[in-house]
Amino acid sequence: MDTNHLKDAFIINYSFRYSLVYLLCIFLHFSIIYISRMSNLTSGIVQIIRENFATNDFIPLHPPVFSGNEEKYVLETIKSTFVSSVGAFVDQSEQLTSQITGIQKSIAVVNGTAALHIGLREVGVTFNTEVITQSLSFVATSNAISYLGASPVFVDVDLDTLGLSPVKLSMFIEEFVEIREDGYPYNKKTSRRISACVPMHTFGFPCKIDEISKICQKYNIPLVEDCAESLGSSFKGTHTGNWGKLSAFSFNGNKIATAGGGGMICSNDVEMGKHLKHITTTAKVPHPFEYVHDEIGFNYRMPNLNAALLCAQLENIYERIRLKRILAKQYAQQFKDKNIKFIQEPEHSTSNYWLMAIQFENQQQRDEFLINSNAQSVQTRPIWKLMTELTMFADCQADDQTNSTLLASTVVNIPSNPF
Ligand SMILES: Cc1ncc(COP(=O)(O)O)c(C=O)c1O
Repeated sequence: MDTNHLKDAFIINYSFRYSLVYLLCIFLHFSIIYISRMSNLTSGIVQIIRENFATNDFIPLHPPVFSGNEEKYVLETIKSTFVSSVGAFVDQSEQLTSQITGIQKSIAVVNGTAALHIGLREVGVTFNTEVITQSLSFVATSNAISYLGASPVFVDVDLDTLGLSPVKLSMFIEEFVEIREDGYPYNKKTSRRISACVPMHTFGFPCKIDEISKICQKYNIPLVEDCAESLGSSFKGTHTGNWGKLSAFSFNGNKIATAGGGGMICSNDVEMGKHLKHITTTAKVPHPFEYVHDEIGFNYRMPNLNAALLCAQLENIYERIRLKRILAKQYAQQFKDKNIKFIQEPEHSTSNYWLMAIQFENQQQRDEFLINSNAQSVQTRPIWKLMTELTMFADCQADDQTNSTLLASTVVNIPSNPF
C-alpha cells in the first residue's frame, strides 16, 4: 500500500499547526510588548501628575479653589438680604472684569451660554441665517446659535492653537461666500446670510484672532469671541475678547474663576453695552416703583449672591494664573523628558492654561490612557465629541475638519488647577 500521501498529509498538517503556533507566539510577544509599553506610558504620566499635586488621593481635573474672600463676601451678601439681581457685587464684578480684560463694558449674566445667546442676538443673528464657528468646542457655542433659529457652519481649527483657523476660514469664504447688493455676506450654497463668526479660544489658548478679525471686517461678518475659557489670556499683548464686536465669558464651576454659575458679555461699544444691560434685565425702564418694559427682554442678570463669590475669585485671578503657569512649565519639562507631547501656548500669546492637555500618537493610546488614569483616581477627559458628530448638527455644512478630527481623537485634558 502506498502510504506516501498519508505521510505528505501528516507533514502538511504538522507544518500548518506549527505555523499557527508560531504566529500565535509572535502575536503574544508583540501584545505583551504593547501592553507593557502602554502601562509604562500610563504609569509614567500618572506619576508625573501625582508628583506635581503631591498626593495619593483622587486628583480632580479642575476643582474650584477658594483661598480669598469668598466666604466673607457670600456671608456679607446674605446678611444684606440683597441676594438677587440687584446689589453691589454685581456692579463690582462687572468693573473687575473690565479691569482684567481691558474691555470697556461688562455685563454680568447667569451663565456663559446666556452671554453667547444675547451677544449673538445683539449683533444681528436671526432665524434662518448662518454662523461660522468651530466644531471643536463645547456644545454651548452651537446651542446658542440654534436658540436664535440660525445654523452653525463648521470651519476647521489650527493644530497649534486648537482654535478657528484663519486659513481654513479664508478658504471657506472664497468658495462659498459672496457679498450681495444689500452689502451683507451670503452663503452661495444655501442662499442664507452669514450673520456672525464665533471663534473659540480653546482651553485658554488664544486663536489667531488678529487674522480672523481682518477677514471678518473684509467680508462684513460680525465677530463674536467665545472667551468662556480664556479669562486672563491675551494675544499680541491684548486680552482675548477685544477683537470683535463683543465677547462672552463663563464663570461656571470648572472655570479659572467661578461664580458658582455665571457669565459676562463684554464689549468696547459702550452703547451696545448699555443696550445689553437693558435687555438682560427684562428691558425694564428705570423707575422707583413702576413696571414698564420697552421691548422683549430676558431675565439673564447674574444674582448678587453669585457675584459675591465671583468678586473674591476675580481678586485672585493673577495669582491663580501665576500658579497655573508654574504647573504648565513643570509639566512641559517633565513630559518632554518622557517624549510625550504637552500642548503649550501658541506663538504671540499668553495663555491662562485653563485646561492643560497632552496629545497621543493615536486614538487607541488615548483610550487606554483615559481608562487607566481614571481607574487610578487621576481625572482625565477627552476633548468634546465634534459638533459635526452630534445628531443635532450632523446636517450642518462643514469643511474637511482634518485638524479637528485628529485633535478630537488624540488629545486628553489632565489635572490643571493647583490646589
Ligand atoms: C467654549 C465654551 N463656550 C460656552 C460655554 C458655556 O458657559 P456656561 O457653562 O457658563 O453656560 C462653555 C463652558 O461651560 C465653554 O467651554
